[in-house]
Amino acid sequence: MPGRVRMGDVMSQIPDRLAQVLTSDQVATTATPSQTNDWLGQPGGPVAAVVHPMAADEVSKVLQLASQLGVPVQIQSGNTGLVGGSTPPRNGQAPILLCLDRMTGVRHIDSDTGQLIAGAGTTIAEVQDVAAQHGWRYGVDLAARDTATIGGTVATNAGGVRVCAYGSTRAQVLGLEFVLADGAVVSDRPGLSKDNTGYDLVGLLCGSEGTLAVVTQVRVKLWRPPMQATTLALPVDGLVEAAALSGSAAGPGFSLLAAEVVDRSSWHAATLMSDRADPLAHSAEGFVLLLEVGDGGEGQGVAEVITERPETVVATQMSQRRLLWQLREIQTTLWSRLPGALHKFDVSVPAAELDALAAETEALTNRLGGRSGIFGHIREGNLHIQLVLPGHEDPTRELLSLVGELGGSISAEHGIGRYKSEYLDLRRSAAEMATMRAVKKSLDPQGLLNPGVLFR
Ligand code: MLT
Ligand code: ZN
Repeated sequence: MPGRVRMGDVMSQIPDRLAQVLTSDQVATTATPSQTNDWLGQPGGPVAAVVHPMAADEVSKVLQLASQLGVPVQIQSGNTGLVGGSTPPRNGQAPILLCLDRMTGVRHIDSDTGQLIAGAGTTIAEVQDVAAQHGWRYGVDLAARDTATIGGTVATNAGGVRVCAYGSTRAQVLGLEFVLADGAVVSDRPGLSKDNTGYDLVGLLCGSEGTLAVVTQVRVKLWRPPMQATTLALPVDGLVEAAALSGSAAGPGFSLLAAEVVDRSSWHAATLMSDRADPLAHSAEGFVLLLEVGDGGEGQGVAEVITERPETVVATQMSQRRLLWQLREIQTTLWSRLPGALHKFDVSVPAAELDALAAETEALTNRLGGRSGIFGHIREGNLHIQLVLPGHEDPTRELLSLVGELGGSISAEHGIGRYKSEYLDLRRSAAEMATMRAVKKSLDPQGLLNPGVLFR
């Protein structure tokens, strides 16, 4: 048919058109396996091109071209996500993969007000290091700190292992620079800690999983770290007990810095994997409660309800404290290496329902002939349930429905991505879904940013 522009023609032109608005060394025609596959090795789909912009104005040029051609854009930063939100989709039109790996570095730190500005592709470890060099701490920290980036954690509103002390990412972010789907750049106005003028667009973008805009720069508030801290590990029979104990673990005037749980089998498996002696007596029943209290570093800030328990391990030396943390932080890697199909869940339930969820998970695991474990952020009721199955059964709907029946959320930290998008209505009402879709439509009318993420 003469005169008609075919989609194949448009697709083949994309790398050249991108090289015209960027430079040729910023454009590739194919993605590498580490860009296509997610952290767990799940493969994504093909790409139309890969771009590495250096600044917001270059992101703007890419998005303008994409909206002119009607080509979707997949945003990728550290690619440590666990819900298929940062890799190219397996179905639908191949996107431009927009990598934030050249938008790195801490650009400014204000030691007086405790504010830091970083490019979206800056790793959490680098943000932490620079903050520490100036006597501050960034409130979000997580096991994937060396790879996960501040932009990616804004997209997912990550909480991490300090969530009980400082809150999730949204509670840390003071300002954002971002680029809308049509290429409009929205700049941050650095300096202010408070701003109540109208809608909280920064809060909206936190947790929006790259569906509303491309975040290019992040301004966060920092915290003064405690002089010292004590780390503790103790066995508990159940998760309700763990949640209650964590609430009273820090004595008056002292602060709780972390409250994590790991089921005891997984904890012991972590000691074997890291070739370390188990600091606790081995048992297959119950959970380990890992606590950290900001105090003088000698355990003086820890409440008696914790220290008087005979099995509590009190770690005051840095090497002991590191070992306890290692056994918690290695859990993601440990579960990813087990043979079988791994199903990961990131859910939260009200504190009173924690043991019910653990019991139902165990029953489901036994019925399916698999193996399961639990670790997570107990103060928030946020459990990362790991289910390894020998066969092809998909336990997702059953487990997430159960979470919904217990009044919980199907995602408390990792987001919805593409892997959990068909279950969003287990948590969100029809009115909420319609409102979210209306926001998406008004900011990204062609639906080009991270298509399939959040919404099917
Ligand atoms: C964690 O808390 O370690 C992370 O959310 C990672 C995971 O769930 O695997
Ligand atoms: Zn987590």
